[in-house]
Amino acid sequence: MKKFLLVIALMLGLSLSYVWAAEKKIDPKTGLIIAPGFEEVKTNCTACHSAKFITAQRGDRETWLSMIRWMQKTQGLWEFSPKLEDTILDYLSKNYPPGEATRRPNLKPSAMPQNPYEK
Ligand code: HEC
Repeated sequence: MKKFLLVIALMLGLSLSYVWAAEKKIDPKTGLIIAPGFEEVKTNCTACHSAKFITAQRGDRETWLSMIRWMQKTQGLWEFSPKLEDTILDYLSKNYPPGEATRRPNLKPSAMPQNPYEK
């Protein structure tokens, strides 16, 4: 009986730690997910604009890189060392990957007011 209880307790502990590990920790100040690369992104990516620009975006590595290049070309973003750029891109593409919905789906037509231009 003791052994049985021990096994139950172990299983409970394991599943709880799994749930906790799966939950993303969010930095209350920036809203960014706390994960490897978070400090680098906070330092280099929130100097000009809010981190909401980042948390509202999704993209794979290439997409994130193209946004960075665009800011470097047109918005005065500084150059990163290849290592730092790698860390930042890892963080962005892992924590804000494509596919996760960034906004709610469209309302059903039945939930919309009548379109005044419709005859
Ligand atoms: C030197 C200033 C500066 C820094 C530093 C900076 N950005 Fe930007 N970023 C801008 C400006 C300016 C805009 C455009 C704002 C606007 O649309 O009016 C912008 C826009 C964005 C957008 C919105 C793009 C869109 O149109 O959807 C994202 C995402 C973004 N930045 C991510 C980042 C990330 C990630 C970093 C760090 C690698 C970063 N920014 C660092 C200046 C900066």
